[in-house]
Amino acid sequence: MEKQRIINQQMKIETLRWFNNRLEMIDQRILPAAFEYLSYYTAHSVAEGIRNMVVRGAPAIGVAAAYGVALEALKLQDNSAAEFTSGMETGFSVLAASRPTAVNLFWALQRMRTVWQGVAEQSPRQIAQRLLAEAHEVLAEDIRINKAMGAHGAALLKDGARVLTHCNAGALATAGWGTALGVFRSAVEAGKKISVIADETRPFLQGARLTAWEMVQEHIPVTLITDNMAGHLMAHGEIDAVVVGTDRVAANGDVANKIGTYMVAVLAKRHNIPFYVACPLSTIDMNIATGKDIPIEERSVEEVKGFRDYHWAAEGVKIRNPAFDVTPAELVTGLITEKGVVLNPDAQGIRKLFETN
Ligand code: MRU
Repeated sequence: MEKQRIINQQMKIETLRWFNNRLEMIDQRILPAAFEYLSYYTAHSVAEGIRNMVVRGAPAIGVAAAYGVALEALKLQDNSAAEFTSGMETGFSVLAASRPTAVNLFWALQRMRTVWQGVAEQSPRQIAQRLLAEAHEVLAEDIRINKAMGAHGAALLKDGARVLTHCNAGALATAGWGTALGVFRSAVEAGKKISVIADETRPFLQGARLTAWEMVQEHIPVTLITDNMAGHLMAHGEIDAVVVGTDRVAANGDVANKIGTYMVAVLAKRHNIPFYVACPLSTIDMNIATGKDIPIEERSVEEVKGFRDYHWAAEGVKIRNPAFDVTPAELVTGLITEKGVVLNPDAQGIRKLFETN
C-alpha cells in the first residue's frame, strides 16, 4: 500500500478520491496528528482498509466498497470471462465480510452487482469501465444527498442553537459534507450561528479526533466533552438539540449508531431535548423489521484496554467492546433524510419515503 503525506497545504477533506487509476483514502486512524492518503488497487486491500478503520462511517464505507468492486474489475479485466466472474465473486465476498453493521456496505455492493448484471454480456474491459463509472456516481450522489439532508436539517435548528453530536458523521464519514455535521455546515451556510458539543466517543474517539478536527477546520465553534458529561450539560440547559448519524435504520425506525448513542437519546428524552438522526435512504434497511435484528459489531478488547502498548485496565479483567447500540424509534424526534424530515418515525412513515419520488 502506498502512503502519501500531505504537508503544509490546505487540508481539503476528500475522504475518498480517484487518482491515477487508484482509490486514495485519508488514513483516519492517525488524524488529527497526521493527514495522509493511502492508495488502494484491489477489493481485498479496500476490505482491509474498511476493517481496520482507515475509512469508517456508514456512507464512506459504502463508497469505498463501490470502488473496491471497480478496482477488482480493473485488476481482472484482461482475464477470461470465467476467471473474471470467479475473481469478482471473491471480491464481493471479501468486501461483504469487512464490517457487519453499516448497511451502506451491502447497499453499495448490491448496487454494483445490479450494474454488473446489466452489462454481463459485455467484455470484462467494458464491464470494468461501467463499474468504475458507477463508483464515481455513488461518490458524487452521496455528496448531493448530504447537501439535501443538510438543508432539511438546518431548518430544524434555531439561530444560536447549541447542538450535541456523538461519534463522527461528518465529511470524513461520507464522500463529503457529512450527514449530522452536514446539517451543521448547512445551518452555518444559511447564516445561523450554531455551536457544536462533541462527545469524545470512547473507545475509538471519533468525536475527539475527527468531529472536533472537522469543526475546527471549518471554524464552526466546537466544545469537546467526555461521553459521561452530556447528562450534566443537558440538566443545566446547555444543549438545545442532538443530531447524530446512523449505520442502519430498521423498517420500524429503530436506529443503530455508534455505541453510546442510546444513552444520549434516553438523556435527551428525559430533558425534553429534540433528538434527530441524519439518515440517507441508503442507510434504511427495509429487510430488517426492528432494531433487534441489526447485527452489532464486537471489536477488539484492545480498544478498551488502553492505547497501543499502554494498558490502563487491570490485567486479567474481562472486557466487552460492542461498537454500536440501538436507539428505539420512540426516542427519535425526527429522521432527517434527503426527502425531508420524518417526525416520530415509525413503519408507516418510513415506508412512505420509498413510495414517493
Ligand atoms: O465505527 P464507525 O466509526 O464506522 O462508526 C461510525 C458511526 O457510528 C457514524 O455515526 C455513522 O456511521 C454515521 S456516519 C454518517
